[in-house]
Amino acid sequence: MTPRARALAFCERFGLRLPVVMGPMAGASPPALAAAVADAGGLGGLGALQMGPAAIAAWVAEFRGRSNGAFQINTWIPDPAPARDAAAEARMAALLEAHGAAPGALEGPFVPDFDAQCAAILAAGPPVVSSIMGVWPAAFVAELKARGILWIAAVTSLAEARQAAAAGADALGVAGVEAGGHRGAFDAGKAAGQGGTTFALVPLIADAVSVPVVASGGIADGRGLAAALALGASAAQIGTALLRTPEAGTNPVWAEAIGRALPEDTVQTRAFSGRLARAIRSEWTEAVGDAALPYPLQRAATGPLREAAAKAGDAGHMQMWAGQAASLARAEPAGEVVQRMWEEASGILA
Ligand SMILES: Cc1cc2nc3c(=O)[nH]c(=O)nc-3n(C[C@H](O)[C@H](O)[C@H](O)COP(=O)(O)O)c2cc1C
Repeated sequence: MTPRARALAFCERFGLRLPVVMGPMAGASPPALAAAVADAGGLGGLGALQMGPAAIAAWVAEFRGRSNGAFQINTWIPDPAPARDAAAEARMAALLEAHGAAPGALEGPFVPDFDAQCAAILAAGPPVVSSIMGVWPAAFVAELKARGILWIAAVTSLAEARQAAAAGADALGVAGVEAGGHRGAFDAGKAAGQGGTTFALVPLIADAVSVPVVASGGIADGRGLAAALALGASAAQIGTALLRTPEAGTNPVWAEAIGRALPEDTVQTRAFSGRLARAIRSEWTEAVGDAALPYPLQRAATGPLREAAAKAGDAGHMQMWAGQAASLARAEPAGEVVQRMWEEASGILA
């Protein structure tokens, strides 16, 4: 099968007109952005990690008011409870105070209840869901299958790809280390070691599993999309390349930093959440070094710091996720970005 035919087969199955998936981005996937991508023929997306049932229902209602297109709802499979270390927590509190922020309370619940989120996702009835940091429990997968909801599972290694395919995933979101945001290793302790690139992982996993592969990480224009399809992917998932679009509503300091960031200006860091993630290097990422608390304690501890920095436009302390291809991101409407990617890729593949 040619790369183009493979992409079109994926589009047919997932209800799309072009093989571009908006990366679901917790805290950064407003309905307007998802609707623009869906209206252009791609898959819109919601990163629902920090949203409870009412917020999920409201997002879906707003999306459906704007677009008849396809969309996915994503959430994170919960990690085991973090180990507590009073001395490390005290050191992080002191570091936060030295950077002018009160340490956030280290008391849960840190995110909305997972079972309630799962129920809200089923109630919303999206055509597609996606997981990251693990696989959905078998009972939830059975509910998806019964409703005909397709499941894209994010994976960062061949072993995770095999595990997700065996658990019933309909497609694998194969994430290279170039990607912006969190490294979705199933075991947080393995995230730093599982640093395969998009170029290395996509053909390896496409050969090894029978379900379609959605390549993610460092894909920001038609060349990247064509390369991903040539490597064996059926579609590409893009995150950073959408963050400068007007529909994303990204904090202007963050959006400008993305436009300027070279690959070496991004860093894998646990400084904001405690889970390894790619962000723009800053005074805060450098100051934390290896001292971050485990997820989600670091996220809770840095809550006041992140909030104050975002309000003040303080790039030194703001949470600014970005992938290595950040400088290719364009400040243009999301529908145009996605359509141009497919036009350019089609030309290259022809
Ligand atoms: C701001 C931001 C938030 C993200 N949040 C999530 C998330 O909640 N769940 C998820 O599966 N992926 C998340 N991602 C990953 C994206 O969905 C996508 O796979 C990734 O951005 C692709 O790499 P790229 O940034 O190089 O395009 C996030 C990425 C960014 C940049």
